[in-house]
Amino acid sequence: MSDGNKERAATQLVTLGRDARASFDFVNPPLVRGSTVLHRDVAELRERTRQRIEGADAEAGAAPPYGIYGTPTHQAFYRALTALEGGHRSWAFPSGLAAVTASILAYVQQGDHVLVPDSVYWPTRRFAGQTLPRFGVEASFYDPRLGERGRAAVEAMFRPNTRLLFLESPGSLTFEMQDVPLLAEVARARGAISVIDNTWATPLYFRPLAHGVDVSLHAATKYIGGHSDLIMGTVTCNERAWPPMRETVHFYGLTTSPDDCWLALRGLRSMGARLAQHRATAEAMIAWLKRQPEVERILYPADADDPGHALWRRDMSGASGLFGVVLKPGIAEKNYHDFIDGMALFGHGFSWGGFESLLIPSSPERTVTPSPYGGRLFRISAGLEDPADLIADLESGFARLRAAG
Ligand SMILES: Cc1ncc(COP(=O)(O)O)c(C=O)c1O
Repeated sequence: MSDGNKERAATQLVTLGRDARASFDFVNPPLVRGSTVLHRDVAELRERTRQRIEGADAEAGAAPPYGIYGTPTHQAFYRALTALEGGHRSWAFPSGLAAVTASILAYVQQGDHVLVPDSVYWPTRRFAGQTLPRFGVEASFYDPRLGERGRAAVEAMFRPNTRLLFLESPGSLTFEMQDVPLLAEVARARGAISVIDNTWATPLYFRPLAHGVDVSLHAATKYIGGHSDLIMGTVTCNERAWPPMRETVHFYGLTTSPDDCWLALRGLRSMGARLAQHRATAEAMIAWLKRQPEVERILYPADADDPGHALWRRDMSGASGLFGVVLKPGIAEKNYHDFIDGMALFGHGFSWGGFESLLIPSSPERTVTPSPYGGRLFRISAGLEDPADLIADLESGFARLRAAG
């Protein structure tokens, strides 16, 4: 087995979480389903329980006293993810949204204040704005590009009771890049925990913990799973963030199925190759889209014209295949619907990061940074089809728009 420390990330995706000797000499770890763990005697039962209470966990080699603390299949996936993210410990949840909510609940209590970017994934906004107040926690939303105005502007949004800074970079639907190192540094100086939704970049292209963030989370539903057949969330914590997270997952009883961990680990093996193709296909479509007179702008930080491009170049080592398209104002609703409905290859559905291309209309909800775009917005998740076929599908869509006038 490799600990992956000296390898490049693409190699780590292949080597991490494997131990052939412990897997009956098979390449992949076994899928272990289980609730009860048998202890040889009372002493072993007590020792394993004590270790668990004192914080020793299976990722560090301790035997779990019960299935809720993770089977060897969970552990294989956690070890791989922890090494990829350069973290201390990882955990998996039944959805990306569950990873988001647990990552907030783990660190706040009544009277606290949390900061959430205006560009956050909408259900994260809903949880912060509607659920947290029921527990006496106040959320306020901030301009995701605030970092561009410098450190003093970032410091100014912190209150004495700000306990948690949430980040998502690039943001959902509008794709604003955040100055993650600056925001994380200020959060730390102000005694707050920083949590980032790192789903777009994946652990392959961005390692937030190396930039000062405390918790990196993923909707593994997207690129980690990669096949539109898995719903799962993950967190990876640094050492200081892990004890409250461990307490939260154990006290709330949060875990996920070993089958799902097995699928997620399998997803990691091909993630590097898939992402390279997702990006190449996205860029081929973007180059074509930019030449269409109806297109006002593309929202994709890896694109040189994007306002977040400099931050993306500075912090990330690659890009995935999800991007936004802004159309020029003045397209009638019916024509817009015909444009989308007539697509042959693009599916119209939520989620992204799977092998199949998706295109959905988007309407971002913003409260502090109103959308500067007058025209309609849609989002494309570039799949693994031949880019020429996808472009032909887009071409027929724009032909419909033009025919409708
Ligand atoms: C950026 C982002 N974070 C989190 C999630 C939530 O993931 P899940 O659908 O697994 O709950 C999504 C889902 O679309 C997302 O786009």
